[in-house]
Amino acid sequence: MKIPFVDLYAQYQSIRPEIDAAIADVIAQSAFIRGAHVDKFERAWAETLGVKHCVSCANGTDALYVAMRGLGVKPGDEVITTAHSWISTSETITQAGGRVVFCDTDDDTFTLNPALIESKITSRTVGIIPVHLYGQSCDMDVVMAIAKKHKLWVIEDCAQAHLAKFKGQFVGTFGNAATFSFYPGKNLGAYGDAGCAVTNDDRLADWMATFARHGGKGEHVMEGINSRMDGLQGAVLGVKLPHLQSWTEARRRVAARYTEVLRGVGDLVTPKVGPNRDHVYHLYVVRTGRRDALKKHLADAGIATVLNYPKALPFYPAYSYLGHTPKDFPVAYANQSRILSLPIFPEMTDEMLAYVAASIAEFFGQDQAGKKPPAERAGVASKRA
Ligand SMILES: Cc1ncc(COP(=O)(O)O)c(C=O)c1O
Repeated sequence: MKIPFVDLYAQYQSIRPEIDAAIADVIAQSAFIRGAHVDKFERAWAETLGVKHCVSCANGTDALYVAMRGLGVKPGDEVITTAHSWISTSETITQAGGRVVFCDTDDDTFTLNPALIESKITSRTVGIIPVHLYGQSCDMDVVMAIAKKHKLWVIEDCAQAHLAKFKGQFVGTFGNAATFSFYPGKNLGAYGDAGCAVTNDDRLADWMATFARHGGKGEHVMEGINSRMDGLQGAVLGVKLPHLQSWTEARRRVAARYTEVLRGVGDLVTPKVGPNRDHVYHLYVVRTGRRDALKKHLADAGIATVLNYPKALPFYPAYSYLGHTPKDFPVAYANQSRILSLPIFPEMTDEMLAYVAASIAEFFGQDQAGKKPPAERAGVASKRA
């Protein structure tokens, strides 16, 4: 059996007539850059989250950059962010002229450890970028309280957390601004690159929209950048948005089943959900001391897995200039060699999941450990059957 990491074609098949019609409409209107579908999606996404403004961008990385420029980051300004994320979160701090200040993570949730943020604040700190990693919110109570106390702005990086909640409130609605990626594999994914920044701040929204579109149409009130959403992406996202809630519930069902069948298997640690969080499982990340061997075993069984991410950010060559050592970020450092993302997508069947679980149990010699045979635990025939 071959199990892909995500199956975007299966999702397309489930909504094919709607997608085909929306794409045909964009072509019929020649509305290739922005246009009515993008405008409509911006309104729909803002309404879904309950925010005033959604400014579409060409991708989630640009959205971070645009938001930081909008909040006035200047050379020498320090921005605190997590040591465990995709590089967009930190590279855009540098692009905007700021200095990246990494902070270690909370071992349970993989997100920025709020207890450590204050130790990173200096007289040059201007903002905090919490990342709701893998689909789980940071502790936004603590992040927002620290920001308020020290007069810092907050940009929530929600690239992996569409519809995730903290204390019943959508992520993306706590900070001064928030950014989303609609990269194809994201929980709400386009058919190419796309992203957006959201905010309740009228002035900031206006500035970001102007800056992202060459500093204004007709009258260039400033020099900006070209970060427009394609019409095709707006149309695809508009079709997909009404399905997002049910796809999120399907992801939660897959995650719950994984957690059930993987409990007690080898030294595996399944994802933990922090208090007051509604996790949306963009990724289902387990931990084991035998990560590389498990990854190979699963690949041999036809199961795709991914490392999100192979290293914590401070340990990439891009940040060697900061001179960090593992003791600066012990949690993120320890996790970088233990984490493994298992396949998860809304269309994943029980049979697929059982096959993954059986293959993992087989790797850990579940039979020898005196437990139920893997096939029985997972509810299907073993992969060798
Ligand atoms: C945490 C995080 N931030 C930002 C981004 C950037 O999004 P994009 O790929 O749309 O530029 C991503 C995308 O992978 C991400 O995972």
